Amino acid sequence: MNTALDQLAAQLEEWDPLDILRWADKTYGVGLVLASSFGAEDMVLVDMWIQVNPHPTIFYLDTGLLFTETYQLIRRVEQHYRVQTIRVATSLTLEEQAGHYGEALWSTNPDHCCTLRKVQPLQQYLADKTAWITGIRRDQTVQRRHAAVIAYDARYHLIKINPLVRWNERDVFRYLVRHQVPYNPLHDCGYPSIGCMPCTHAIKPGDDPRSGRWAGQEKTECGLHL
Ligand code: ADX
Ligand code: SF4
Repeated sequence: MNTALDQLAAQLEEWDPLDILRWADKTYGVGLVLASSFGAEDMVLVDMWIQVNPHPTIFYLDTGLLFTETYQLIRRVEQHYRVQTIRVATSLTLEEQAGHYGEALWSTNPDHCCTLRKVQPLQQYLADKTAWITGIRRDQTVQRRHAAVIAYDARYHLIKINPLVRWNERDVFRYLVRHQVPYNPLHDCGYPSIGCMPCTHAIKPGDDPRSGRWAGQEKTECGLHL
């Protein structure tokens, strides 16, 4: 059965991402937040949302294992757009994690590591929000193939908005270049998709853009979007 939200998703499907963000900003107000890893897609969304709201709520999940380039980009974004980003993180230090679960949990049990360092902090952060925006695209993974522009996220109990679902990688980089948006320099060094340092590797030209994430493991998703 088609719910009202499904119908809305079908309607928004044809909209430009900027118009989706404008609509979302007006509809969800202060309860609306953007989840940003400061990867290419999220930089498009930051740049667009700021065009319709100079005070957007942008948060990032700091696992403590992000690349130096990513931390530098966060500071650069704050200066460039004159915004403050929100750091969301577990209180479990990397030393404590190693003590409880063993060294390099990302190698021995990456799902557990992602749960501790990403999913649980996200769950807590989203608990009092009304809607979250993400940069997922349909062509990124099999699990994302049917992602809607807007849907109810039963896992975190709020609305999820994915303005870029219809875009491909080329659309994303074309936008970044055309609008002179700051982006992670690792994208120019063989890292189309950037996550935590231990789980992200450079790829060769022609490889699947996500093949550098959890390379050699079955894992293709960190669990934020399942
Ligand atoms: S992941 O599941 O493989 O890690 P991916 O890197 O493709 O996700 O990012 C997809 C979307 O998830 C991003 O556009 C962003 O909205 C959100 N996201 C991923 N990592 C983070 C992070 N560290 N902090 C905040 N949001 C994130
Ligand atoms: Fe841990 Fe890797 Fe997940 Fe980051 S991506 S939280 S290092 S398993």
